[in-house]
Amino acid sequence: MNDRLNVLLLGSGGREAAIAWKLSQSPLMGKFFIAPGNAGTSAYGTNLDIRPTDFDAVYAAVAEHGIDLVVAGNEDPLVKGLREQLEAKAAAENRRLLIVGPGAAGAALEGSKDFAKQFMGRYDIPTARHLTVTAGTVAEGDAFLESLKAPYVLKADGLAAGKGVLIIDNLDEAKASLREMLAGQFGAASAKVVIEEFLTGIECSVFVLTDGKGRYVVLPPAKDYKRVGEGDTGLNTGGMGSVCPPPIADDEFMRKVDERVIRRTLDGLISENIDYRGFIFLGLIRCGDEPYVIEYNVRMGDPETESVMPRIVSDLLPVLVEAAEGELRHDSLETDPRTAVAVMAVSGGYPEAYRKGLEITGELAPAESLVFHAGTRLDAEGRILTDGGRVLAAVSYGDSISDAAEKSYRALAGINFDGMYFRRDIGQDLLKF
Ligand code: AMP
Ligand code: GLY
Repeated sequence: MNDRLNVLLLGSGGREAAIAWKLSQSPLMGKFFIAPGNAGTSAYGTNLDIRPTDFDAVYAAVAEHGIDLVVAGNEDPLVKGLREQLEAKAAAENRRLLIVGPGAAGAALEGSKDFAKQFMGRYDIPTARHLTVTAGTVAEGDAFLESLKAPYVLKADGLAAGKGVLIIDNLDEAKASLREMLAGQFGAASAKVVIEEFLTGIECSVFVLTDGKGRYVVLPPAKDYKRVGEGDTGLNTGGMGSVCPPPIADDEFMRKVDERVIRRTLDGLISENIDYRGFIFLGLIRCGDEPYVIEYNVRMGDPETESVMPRIVSDLLPVLVEAAEGELRHDSLETDPRTAVAVMAVSGGYPEAYRKGLEITGELAPAESLVFHAGTRLDAEGRILTDGGRVLAAVSYGDSISDAAEKSYRALAGINFDGMYFRRDIGQDLLKF
């Protein structure tokens, strides 16, 4: 593989900005496109105004630009069959096309929580006790809720834009919510509801890149901060910051994750004839010293990727190619020993109503930090405007979590938009470990 590769990365968030930043440094990179990208990704490649779920348009870009490798950033196109569609179109034209991201069968690990739970059951992968309920089995759902202790966890089976998980303190409210969900609170996504035992512990995200044949590399682990408020208070968001690596993911914990979660998951996929080539994101909770799977995702995490990518020293592009070819030769990645902390700046009001189109000013290329754009766009005059709730992430390296976080806060102090907000306690909870 000495030739350069033309690459198309799908997505537009901070995750894709971080992946684009990393891939753009590869000596193997030929032409690089991001669809649709954001104001920041245009510094790493060429943005294409294409929706990742518009498979005809994605394939037209593949053909027009001679793309060798497509990397799926987010889950939605994968769950909808991106891989199958692109492969069929490429085969019809005798085009060799590599794709990072599973087919729809593998993407069901994220697209259906019921499937994921059954899968974990079949392969003895540690997870919370659970029951899947439909409109016809509400009484069993009630009985299962009664067997659990508060709080109660209710999850819509299907994709619900990250909003389909409810954690409820009161049994009667949980029963009422179960009925609302089954009646269509999240549309078809909650026609089935998974009821789960609540697990107490510290969450941690582990990312695996696999080639569908049981070979894999583990990326640096990270922890994200989902609540909008300091001290983990307030509403859930897409993520307010991340720390890589979190001290809770020590060697012994990662050894258990490898043995009980990663290997069993990959063996299970092979047993079920699911040719999974791409990232698997293990959303874990550490209860005591033991890992449990909260959820699978079929992509990298956001905002974890913003702190994970900067710590990968190895060239990632050949590793992606090997995974997509089904011939992974790397078994590990060289990593930077420092800690990286990403702090997300969001638009005032997020995750509830917030404004868009606010001009972003200040130092967007600070000396001590990286700035990854998320919800940003360029206007006709070349100004950078906010274009989403999560606007940009400042990421810094440090010898400690506090050191890295302080640098990220300093970077954000030099950036401004109306109503800009960020948490100032990213990683604080980890200092006691
Ligand atoms: P998800 O949208 O699936 O990532 O779930 C949202 C959040 O709900 C997770 O990040 C956890 O904080 C929490 N959660 C989900 N399932 C459980 C569980 N069984 N026990 C405790 N917390 C959970
Ligand atoms: N940070 C959690 C996610 O990407 O789903």
